[in-house]
Amino acid sequence: FSWEKYNVKRKNFGTIQSSDIGFFKSILDEKRVLTDENDILPYNIDWIKNCRGQSKLVLRPKTTEEVSKILKYCNDRRLAVCPQGGNTGLVGGSVPVFDEIVLSFALMNKIISLDSVSGSMVCEAGCILENLDNYVRERGLIMPLDLGAKGTCHIGGNVSTNAGGLRLLRYGNLHGSILGIEAVKADGTVIDCLKSLKKDNTGYHLKHLFIGSEGTLGLVTKVAIHCPVLPNAVNLGFFGVKNFDNILKLYKSAKKNLGEILSAFEMADFDAINTTVRNLKLPNPIADYPFYVLVETHGSNEAHDSEKLMSFLSKEMETGLILDGTVTSEPAKMQTIWNLRESIAGASLKSGYIFKYDVSIPQKHYYDLVPILKKRMGGRAVSVYGYGHVGDGNIHINVVVPEYNSEVASLMEPYIFEEVSKVNGSISAEHGIGFRKPKYIHYSKDQSALHLMSDLKKLMDPNGILNPYKVLPDEP
Ligand code: FAD
Ligand code: MLT
Ligand code: ZN
Repeated sequence: FSWEKYNVKRKNFGTIQSSDIGFFKSILDEKRVLTDENDILPYNIDWIKNCRGQSKLVLRPKTTEEVSKILKYCNDRRLAVCPQGGNTGLVGGSVPVFDEIVLSFALMNKIISLDSVSGSMVCEAGCILENLDNYVRERGLIMPLDLGAKGTCHIGGNVSTNAGGLRLLRYGNLHGSILGIEAVKADGTVIDCLKSLKKDNTGYHLKHLFIGSEGTLGLVTKVAIHCPVLPNAVNLGFFGVKNFDNILKLYKSAKKNLGEILSAFEMADFDAINTTVRNLKLPNPIADYPFYVLVETHGSNEAHDSEKLMSFLSKEMETGLILDGTVTSEPAKMQTIWNLRESIAGASLKSGYIFKYDVSIPQKHYYDLVPILKKRMGGRAVSVYGYGHVGDGNIHINVVVPEYNSEVASLMEPYIFEEVSKVNGSISAEHGIGFRKPKYIHYSKDQSALHLMSDLKKLMDPNGILNPYKVLPDEP
């Protein structure tokens, strides 16, 4: 772990006294108030091992009422709170920085209702994404989002980060899929915006304040989400490609030739796939190529869809855009390919420390930064590789070094953000700002917007107890 980057001062919050613990035990039972150092440790460390907090207290409420009582008390006592879902966030937002109380949603995991006609599901914030997906699949629906962390992340965490993922290209982002939200403000007030309607223009669309605000404006306790229909036919292609220009040509062709059935268009470079294959001992179904593309279709007619994808493959092999590839609709084979793609995120944890960047860039510049960073890092990096959601203009760049070092950090930051901002990109496409990036947010947000964000924070959380040190810069 690196302490050097903790260049922040603890704010003037209260410190936990034994009377506070007594209060929390009076509203939760003893087992849901964790104070033992070993029990707390996993809540203090983030998934990518970039950040480590020093919390001494974890609370595990089961109901909205309990969340409300906790927050009211913390607000009165000026105790800071770090909300935590599945703790898979990649920007250090889900772990405390100092001694903030961790409020874990893990026990708020009930599905409340599912309307099979409209496809709207209401559930508690701590439901694990994959459990929800399994539940709705048995009823002919799917979740509108999918990500490699699905087995661990919570829907409340997904909403709070506005997670994108592998299917956004087809099903859109959570600002569209989330129909309603119940949230608790810092002072304990429960805000009920839990409508399940597709259309509702009655005043301000308050639910959007909680989508993507990373637990800084309120805690999400329940969500209503629209689930699309389970596709009858799913096909997956995995292709080897010569260079990035050809990936863009292939993307244009996929949009044109696969049209309405295209559900994912992902890319990874050789080093991303090779590191994953090597470190995690996963099979690569095709040979080595400079770039790989994964194309998925969701449709309603297997014969029609697989014919479309097969003819896309043969046409583009003739043009040379695809060097080699495989197309399958067999669930086990599709799983192997998706598993390879989804495992890239953590594959390098074995090799050292990962500096992870998640940027959106106009597609023509999508891959430019990878070779530039490789050169800039010289021999300092174990590897530098790029992969991501080409269809959404969102690339992930991982720079892997044996261990954290500030010289490397200062070689890349703010350099990367400056470059992204020069082409009008976003310094955080889907992971959020968290603890790692508040000081860089100005590269993507105008001062006028930052001032309004700061005003909203003051309005909704005047004592600043919700997820301090995250998202907002100290001085906008
Ligand atoms: P946490 O990590 O626990 O929390 C994330 C943030 O939300 C924190 O700021 C936390 O304080 C806040 N929070 C959590 N729950 C609540 C709540 N109920 N109310 C208020 N605030 C809350 N992200 C993508 O966008 N796309 C991807 O494709 C993707 N793939 C991933 C793959 C892997 C293998 C991993 C490890 C992560 C991936 N992520 C991806 C990042 C991460 O999984 C998502 O950001 C996810 O939505 C976080 O959910 P979580 O429940 O783990 O939240
Ligand atoms: C992904 O697309 O795999 C995720 O966003 C995680 C990552 O960036 O590594
Ligand atoms: Zn991603």
